[in-house]
Amino acid sequence: MKKKVLLMGASGSGKTSMRSLIFSNNPASLTARLGATIDVEQNHVRFLGDLILNLWDCGGQDAFMDTYLALQASTIFQHVGVLIYVFEVESRNMQKDLQYYRDCLAALQRYSPDAAVFLLVHKMDLARGSRAQTLERRTAELQQASGDVPVTVFGTSIYDESLYKAWSRIVHTLIPNAAVLSKHLTTLAHACSATEVILFERTTFLVIATSSPPPAPHAPPMGSPALSTPSSSHTTTNGLRTPTFSQGSLPAREPDPDAGADPHRLSPTRYERTSELIKAFKHACSRVREEFHSLEMELDEFTAVLDELTKNTYVLIVVHDPTIETAALRMNIRLARSKFE
Ligand code: GTP
Repeated sequence: MKKKVLLMGASGSGKTSMRSLIFSNNPASLTARLGATIDVEQNHVRFLGDLILNLWDCGGQDAFMDTYLALQASTIFQHVGVLIYVFEVESRNMQKDLQYYRDCLAALQRYSPDAAVFLLVHKMDLARGSRAQTLERRTAELQQASGDVPVTVFGTSIYDESLYKAWSRIVHTLIPNAAVLSKHLTTLAHACSATEVILFERTTFLVIATSSPPPAPHAPPMGSPALSTPSSSHTTTNGLRTPTFSQGSLPAREPDPDAGADPHRLSPTRYERTSELIKAFKHACSRVREEFHSLEMELDEFTAVLDELTKNTYVLIVVHDPTIETAALRMNIRLARSKFE
């Protein structure tokens, strides 16, 4: 299944920079060397087995934009799953940017009326004055320019995690079985007594799905229908009893009420921060010619294991129960693999 993603916006707004950061694992500092995109550059990224993102990075110089709209509209705007239109937060010519945007939106409505539209107010690090107020002002302006077309607006910058947040949300809308994945992750989280389980795409490290937040300590009554006792259990070498998956089903177990972390203490930006940090770590590994495979962290407060789940995904399990060993988490990842392939 191929999903066409159009990346458009004025020349210099930052389209190729974000593409190189997210899809090519380059650091933000290298983007200043990128030249202007000539015409359209196409990329294919395989997401989750049979889902392929077909990314069209459309050079934004006026001459190219005029050609897309006048001569190539049926090629460019046909079969689009998602349009991502990038605006510079402090654009020197917002009126011209908006006019091109309106024309592109009209062409999209004609050739791909069902496409989702995401607008990025980019280079937020250069915003003059309060970022929140600037974003609010720009959002109102963009919503007005979009008329009846529903749009989602994000403020982004290549210098922080905001770019990962926006792209993760965008990619999430393209994944047909995202709800099923979340369900499996929730079951895996219960099986591991984890605070949270997160699924990342392998190349981009964008968040594909997350387990739902754990129940509040002491909240679920024993025997609640939402929770079932494991059908079997397994004793690891350290004596830890941990549920295993049997006969193709992922059993859940009651979380230890004393072990659960307060979900309200978890940072709301933790997903995109993790994507950003792992990408930076992967880049550091490649600089010393090491390949990144997996990661384990055992700290006083929590334990985390990041490991390959399938050919195209990584999974991160975060546990706040010090009695749970990383070997048990790795074993559960191995056992869960077939559910995600
Ligand atoms: P065309 O290929 O001509 O359409 O331009 P483009 O939209 O692809 O722009 P490009 O990615 O080449 O970026 C232009 C410049 O913007 C580069 O020097 C980047 O380093 C810079 N840039 C990109 N994103 C950001 C950002 O979030 N903040 C700041 N301050 N600079 C950025």
